[in-house]
Amino acid sequence: MTSDIELGTRLEQGRTVPVSVDLVELLATRLLVQGNSGSGKSHLLRRLLEQSASHVQQIIIDPEGDFSTLAGKYNHLALDAADYTLAQLYQAAERVRQHRVSAILNMENVEIDGQLRSAAAFLSGLFDAPRSYWFPVLVVVDEAQLFAPAGGGDYSEEARRASLSAMTNLMCRGRKRGLAGVIATQRLAKLAKNVAAEASNFLMGRTFLDIDMLRASDLLGMERRQAEAFRDLERGHFIALGPAISRKPLPVKIGAVETASRSGEVQVMQFTPLPSIEQAENLVLMDLQATELPQRVEKRPVSVAESTALLDAYIQQAERMEQDSGLCEPTMNADERLEKALEIVYAVLAERVGRDSLPLAEIYQAFSQKWRVAGLGKQGLSIAELRGLVVLANTKTDSAFLQDSDWLTAQSMAKELPDDIQGVFLLIACTAIRKQPAPTEKQVAYIYGTASLARARRQIEYLEEKNFIVICYEEQGRKEKIAIPGTNWETALLAKG
Ligand SMILES: Nc1ncnc2c1ncn2[C@@H]1O[C@H](COP(=O)(O)OP(=O)(O)OP(=O)(O)O)[C@@H](O)[C@H]1O
Ligand SMILES: [Mg+2]
Repeated sequence: MTSDIELGTRLEQGRTVPVSVDLVELLATRLLVQGNSGSGKSHLLRRLLEQSASHVQQIIIDPEGDFSTLAGKYNHLALDAADYTLAQLYQAAERVRQHRVSAILNMENVEIDGQLRSAAAFLSGLFDAPRSYWFPVLVVVDEAQLFAPAGGGDYSEEARRASLSAMTNLMCRGRKRGLAGVIATQRLAKLAKNVAAEASNFLMGRTFLDIDMLRASDLLGMERRQAEAFRDLERGHFIALGPAISRKPLPVKIGAVETASRSGEVQVMQFTPLPSIEQAENLVLMDLQATELPQRVEKRPVSVAESTALLDAYIQQAERMEQDSGLCEPTMNADERLEKALEIVYAVLAERVGRDSLPLAEIYQAFSQKWRVAGLGKQGLSIAELRGLVVLANTKTDSAFLQDSDWLTAQSMAKELPDDIQGVFLLIACTAIRKQPAPTEKQVAYIYGTASLARARRQIEYLEEKNFIVICYEEQGRKEKIAIPGTNWETALLAKG
């Protein structure tokens, strides 16, 4: 049994040989296609879709209506986003997964803000579908930079966030749910980094702009000189790399489209046949409710894991920008730098008094900006250092504590923990070292970057489970104080409330 489909051909010693894509591998490792306008991306996607149509369910997010012609030939259900409310699109997406209907979401008749919202609703419906519907499906997004933009644009912030979050879910967390993202973009530099970074397969077409070429060579781990080759590629020619296609960069000329459907071929997935177009219409479109979109779609909070990923991407970008701009090294020594940084963290928090929670990503951005505005040169603060400073600022600790040997020990202990929980441990450790009352759940929630006290409680329980802290109870069973095993640090009596 093979799961290969033929994408195109290449020349080998004067002979034309086929280039295939391993569909099963592709489902697990996702694909990013980039090339300037007219380089042949949509043609490539169409080739991939046509060749795999009989093997696997397909969803196409189609901003320009390019793919509606597939519907007639390959039984895709065509949905015009203009005809449905967001809530209906969300619901239809769940049914599409339930019944394994291949579908095209055509958004050519919707203005840009609506395109972002429609894509967000539909992708969220795919993502949120119950576990029993997690069948493998290719999710093709053409013009992905529209839906996961690296910066702002002609659309509302709310629409941008909803769409970016849905695309992030698709590319970063979709695999377990059977969602395999295949995304195409004209401009790599305009595509959100965390979204691009999750693809392990690449097809790079003609690229003119230096900045896109640099991003492409970074992603592919190529020398920048080698990436120059992208400039000279002809229409329909791509360089392929990745586990589903080739372990080494391989030139490929994409094959023709409108090849006959390859019915009767080996099925990649051993499922019952996909539904016919008549069945599909009934299954997906019947009785859609025009109610409000469920809140969780538009208001899904970015999870700690997501914000950590975004933060990492942001830091890398900031570091690169700093290197590129050639800012000179700071004249401060390490201690002075930390003292100055603590001062700035105090200022950042002071501007945000009254907030229930403050994600580290937000603090980092505000911090970096202030640092730069202050003309302090390269900031170079690691996220672990920042986390420690945020704890100090929250416990009204002054800079003398920065060099406290217990505090330094606590910071190295924290490194044994998952990133997102280190701040909670440091908060408790800091109060214990300083013999202050243990933090309240509200304070823990704040440091954890959430407003949920239940979530805060879970982090405390986790730390106790892992023996990083011991909660001591008084006789009535009320929590009294927290001790840190292996040290003599102990909080004062627990604050009430
Ligand atoms: N491999 C190919 N063989 C034959 N024709 C091709 C091939 N690739 C692209 N073309 C033709 O070139 C034209 C441009 O291709 P296509 O629309 O796929 O570009 P694109 O990269 O999607 O551009 P845009 O970013 O503007 O959407 C189309 O008319 C298409 O049919
Ligand atoms: Mg196109």
